[in-house]
Amino acid sequence: MPLVTSRDMFEKAYAGGYAIGAFNVNNMEIIQGITEAAKEENAPLILQVSAGARKYAKHVYLMKLIDAALEDTGLPIVVHLDHGPDFETCKSCIDGGFTSVMIDGSSKSFEDNIALTKQVVEYAHANGVTVEGELGRLAGVEDDVNVEDHSYTEPDQVQEFVERTGVDSLAIAIGTSHGAYKFKPGHKPQLRFDILEEVSKRLPGFPIVLHGASSVIPAFVQKINAYGGAMPDAIGIPEDMLRQAAKSAVCKINIDSDLRLAMTATIREYFAEHPADFDPRQYLGPARDAIKDMVKRKITNVLGCAGKA
Ligand code: G3H
Ligand code: 13P
Ligand code: ZN
Repeated sequence: MPLVTSRDMFEKAYAGGYAIGAFNVNNMEIIQGITEAAKEENAPLILQVSAGARKYAKHVYLMKLIDAALEDTGLPIVVHLDHGPDFETCKSCIDGGFTSVMIDGSSKSFEDNIALTKQVVEYAHANGVTVEGELGRLAGVEDDVNVEDHSYTEPDQVQEFVERTGVDSLAIAIGTSHGAYKFKPGHKPQLRFDILEEVSKRLPGFPIVLHGASSVIPAFVQKINAYGGAMPDAIGIPEDMLRQAAKSAVCKINIDSDLRLAMTATIREYFAEHPADFDPRQYLGPARDAIKDMVKRKITNVLGCAGKA
């Protein structure tokens, strides 16, 4: 099966009350771990590539690896640009075979965000590619940008944004954030479901996206620290809150940090137990398995998309 756009996937997810997992990819083991899990669960999948991942692995390597995953699994897969910073990066990904792009104009003024997003939508749609825009700003670290506080999405702005830009999906800020430190120690994790509800009322049938949706499972942080790491208290979004969101208008849930934690914890454990080993396959193999287990866990506990491919 060739790569697909997110259009049909989101339509089915909205109607079926589940969400698609959008997992960040940077190398072969990550791609294999994610796609093997999705295959075993017969789940639709979005593989997303950040500007940093394209710089690290190169566009052509990632595309060939994803092509191999398509051949190997036969699953419907979307290749998506995560946090497209400008028109040129989006164009380069569209020209290079991505089936979906995000243009992240969330740091710009409302009018500048609309103008940039509209420009990307025009080029993307002319090439059969779907576009995700963002309104509101998440706290947390993404690439080299660090945002201290949330700027929650204003429900009153979403209809105008979607109408004027023509975007196919919208990322909103309801209290999720990027990275492993989503809430201050001692603070209770909270999401603004009231904002999600208001947004969905104003955009009936329209797919909503949640970024920064890792749960930062304590066992993995503890394992990293048990094997020489020094992570401070890390707190994520509880899985049951995300499961609730997946049943609503949220059709795409972005997860990266949980895969990073699983991979790193496994490699640290491996070296602690096999200090003399130096064959990369010995530690990257278990790391790939840990990613696979994590993606299966997300499909079951958060997304609800098993059997929907
Ligand atoms: O939201 C950002 C993703 O976690 C990707 O991170 O820019 O370090 O590749 P990255
Ligand atoms: P996490 O850091 O919570 O995994 O979020 C990833 C993300 O939003 C990628 O765009
Ligand atoms: Zn993100």
